[in-house]
Amino acid sequence: MSYANVYECWKRDPEAFWMEAAQSIDWHRAPSRALIDERAPLYEWFSDGLVNGCHNAVDRHVEAGHGERTAIIWDSPVTGQTRHTSYAELRDLTARFGGALARAGVGKGDRVVIYMPMVPEAAVAMLACARIGAIHSVVFGGFAANELAKRIDDAAPKAVIAASCGVEPNRTVHYKPLLDAALEAASHRPDLCVILQREQETAELEPGRDHEWHAFQEGAEPAKCVPVEGNHPAYILYTSGTTGPPKGVVRATGGHLVALDWSMANIYGVAPGEVYWAASDVGWVVGHSYIVYAPLIHGCTTIIFEGKPVGTPDAGTFWRVMQDHAVSVFFTAPTAMRAIKREDPRGDLLANYDLSRLRTLFLAGERADPDTVDWCGRVLNVPVVDHWWQTETGWAIAANPVGIEPLPVKVGSPSVPMPGYDVRILGEDGGERPVGELGSIAVRLPLPPGTLPTLWNADDRFRESYLARFPGFYETGDAGYVDEDGYLWIMARTDDVINVAGHRLSTGAMEEVLASHPDVAECAVIGVADRLKGQLPMGFLCLNKGCDRPHEDVVREAVALVRERIGPVAAFRHAVVVDRLPKTRSGKILRATMAKVADGENPAPPATIDDPSILSEIRSALEPIGYAGRR
Ligand code: COA
Ligand code: AMP
Repeated sequence: MSYANVYECWKRDPEAFWMEAAQSIDWHRAPSRALIDERAPLYEWFSDGLVNGCHNAVDRHVEAGHGERTAIIWDSPVTGQTRHTSYAELRDLTARFGGALARAGVGKGDRVVIYMPMVPEAAVAMLACARIGAIHSVVFGGFAANELAKRIDDAAPKAVIAASCGVEPNRTVHYKPLLDAALEAASHRPDLCVILQREQETAELEPGRDHEWHAFQEGAEPAKCVPVEGNHPAYILYTSGTTGPPKGVVRATGGHLVALDWSMANIYGVAPGEVYWAASDVGWVVGHSYIVYAPLIHGCTTIIFEGKPVGTPDAGTFWRVMQDHAVSVFFTAPTAMRAIKREDPRGDLLANYDLSRLRTLFLAGERADPDTVDWCGRVLNVPVVDHWWQTETGWAIAANPVGIEPLPVKVGSPSVPMPGYDVRILGEDGGERPVGELGSIAVRLPLPPGTLPTLWNADDRFRESYLARFPGFYETGDAGYVDEDGYLWIMARTDDVINVAGHRLSTGAMEEVLASHPDVAECAVIGVADRLKGQLPMGFLCLNKGCDRPHEDVVREAVALVRERIGPVAAFRHAVVVDRLPKTRSGKILRATMAKVADGENPAPPATIDDPSILSEIRSALEPIGYAGRR
């Protein structure tokens, strides 16, 4: 069947389409229908089915005779270790850890926060939660204690699972002290913490609360897979909005299993038994969907890579991993490929490796710039597929579905909408924009299985954030257009979220931190263009009247404050002191105009600007640090 036929087939009868896709999943009790729309515009999928995520990702493959197949390869250049875990071993590991959690009182519906680096135990912890029906919430290791505390307070976990440390190329990340600080700051108290002691650092354990990973599991009865309803949350994953605390994206179990399995065959074109590698982190949605769940649900071998594209030890690491583990399909963020390209522009290191098994490279997480796409295609000599999605959707909204049929590539476009997504370009008035014209990208409701049904404990915030602006549609927060061939072009965010090295960050959250500095009267954070990371945050600080401290001191403290409160992942290194911020007459800060100035453009002052002369003050403040046209 062609892509056009498949998409048409979905459009004609979405219910039949998803009920058929659901057959690739092992249900304890098959769902009687796919879509549940009684609470529209809040939708659910497969709610009356009974199913277990760990059974589908692990046990069923063992029962089908594939117990010896490798489920997870851990490849850790930062510690010099590799480890293979078979499906049978993974079943035993998740059963034992799940049993220990159950013995400690963690059960169906209880939340478990996981704060771990890229070690196989992170996947074991996630799958063990799925096994017993607990809801995990993984927090990325590059966030500071304060961000972890916010998530702990929102998810209110019964247990926290962490490691003693993570290993970054230039330093050890002290996960356990960060967790202790987070628990100190949080109002919620979990009953227990389970700590994986790594050989690089032994953490201090608090008697009564903290348990060592192995001791915790001693003598525990292996847990069976607990069937849960299709709408039971599998996990909560926090993501950045423009303002306010992070949003807890909920993923319901049934739709997540069905959609991910469908995507492996139809988007990624990968078969059970093949090796699929997503070089991301378990703390991001790519890690949830395509390091842990999808490859395992589909019976593939997945790779947990604890390293960086460059410097661990060199820009040939990705090629080495693909060779050593015979990777067929590879997925990463454009920024990672840009980092490699910068170190090895001609791709010379590739000559040392055999990548004959590699079939396709997938890119997502940020805009795939044509230079990077072309370079990847040239040095790797495989199709390069850009695809577009978000934490909220959990799988691709638009892609080139090579598993159905490879469509002609248009570099710079993530290609076409996937079945389930009726994508529309809407204008300010909510009306549809003509072909080729820019607008807000929205998806007609309902969103397909696997996407967020709501935000954790926050139905109203879900409606306000995503459904209110265009009734009947989900607002993606991205702007773009559709061309005459139906290809989508993603151009910008419509909010103040920025994308730094494929990580989505809230400028509002950074402003909140900067505003707490005692010398800062007012501030703004914008994203400025960066050749490696796509965007970098840049702060503008207006100081209190009478503050005569050297500006460099305030800037240094501001930078340190963001790192301390949000974490190193914010990559906040640049700030300037200015007298005033450009605003509209109604007092709204003109961030988009400031970003254009920083990127060296010469924007016409918006008609609503209060005082156009401020733009030249902004330019003068930026030039000495290499922005606003002098790069
Ligand atoms: N735990 C703790 N700290 C972390 C971390 C983690 N899991 N991941 C990153 N950090 C820290 C880094 O050590 C760095 O700290 P530093 O300021 O002390 O150097 C900071 O966060 C910024 O990290 P990063 O964005 O990774 O920048 P980098 O300069 O170390 O590396 C790249 C640049 C391009 C190589 C890197 O960003 C990369 O590999 N990106 C791929 C992104 C990706 O996979 N995105 C997922 C979406 S698909
Ligand atoms: P996250 O939720 O962190 O995965 O970030 C999602 C956001 O990243 C999207 O809303 C886009 O702004 C951006 N993004 C992700 N993939 C792409 C892509 N292929 N092209 C352009 N932007 C992308």
